[in-house]
Amino acid sequence: DWTMAEFRAAKIQEIREQVGSGRVICGLSGGVDSAVAAVLIHEAIGEQLTCVFVDHGLMRAGEAEQVVSLFRNHYNIPLVHVDAETLFLSGLAGVSDPELKRKFIGKTFIDVFEAEARKIGGAEFLAQGTLYPDVIESVSFTGGPSVTIKSHHNVGGLPERMDMKLVEPLRELFKDEVRVLGRELGLPQAFVGRHPFPGPGLAIRIPGEVTKERCDILRRADAIYLEEIRLAGLYDAIWQAFAVLLPVRTVGVMGDARTYDHVLALRAVTSTDGMTAEAFDFPGDFLPRVSTRIVNEVRGVNRVVYDYTSKPPGTIEWE
Ligand code: XMP
Repeated sequence: DWTMAEFRAAKIQEIREQVGSGRVICGLSGGVDSAVAAVLIHEAIGEQLTCVFVDHGLMRAGEAEQVVSLFRNHYNIPLVHVDAETLFLSGLAGVSDPELKRKFIGKTFIDVFEAEARKIGGAEFLAQGTLYPDVIESVSFTGGPSVTIKSHHNVGGLPERMDMKLVEPLRELFKDEVRVLGRELGLPQAFVGRHPFPGPGLAIRIPGEVTKERCDILRRADAIYLEEIRLAGLYDAIWQAFAVLLPVRTVGVMGDARTYDHVLALRAVTSTDGMTAEAFDFPGDFLPRVSTRIVNEVRGVNRVVYDYTSKPPGTIEWE
């Protein structure tokens, strides 16, 4: 029977054959997939691999520190940490269209990887943690003409002209299988069990224009939401939970003053592979408690709503 141990051994062989004596750059996103891909490739080719963590300023609170410490301390895998917040945020200024955001972020990631590749004397390969659902959802064949639902930055969002060849050892796997492989490779359970986080990060959770200020507001609200989910013991029962900062302001009252601030939407879904999803049904007092905390603690948000839409017809992310 086909076990993960066999898959691991077969992939290691395959990676060695594909790469030969070439150099590989692997982009880490903070998520499980790219971390598993990196550890697997490191096992296959050791020092021919350079891991690059591009901090686009669109990470959740504390995320950059967690990734850097996992790689440097737990695995002792060298990691280049690129602070690219200004580059990404300045390019996103004035951009509201979801596909334009995705395309810009995908292209800018490649620019940064290529610049890093030049610094190490050139790399022929770019490794990514692309999964099977990423492949099918970027271009979905519905029987008629193919329709792109969203350009996932690690698949359809890549620029057409790119010098590096792709190494994508997880392309046949679903998320639950990647988690099994991650455990097999010795990744800490807390890391393997993390909710998925999209490559374009908070940019696709801020409909409309993305600004540093909006990212900061969203990071604070999202951290409170996830903290309460963990405290309630619900984290592992949920596929993915996150907040979305809407470009809509509404009137409220704080003390005896009028407020006119953003609406925040909370989303939590159950799913097995991200291809279909159902809204998570929180116990009765949970959402009111989180919503009170967020409105009291996060400046800039005065109203919280919950998204009950399934996928389909909705998607998990809002953009
Ligand atoms: P949607 O919103 O398409 O999301 O229902 C399905 C799953 O994919 C994640 N997602 C992404 N992951 N790069 C990624 O690595 C992306 O560009 C991207 N867009 C969406 C999403 O978080 C959900 O888990």
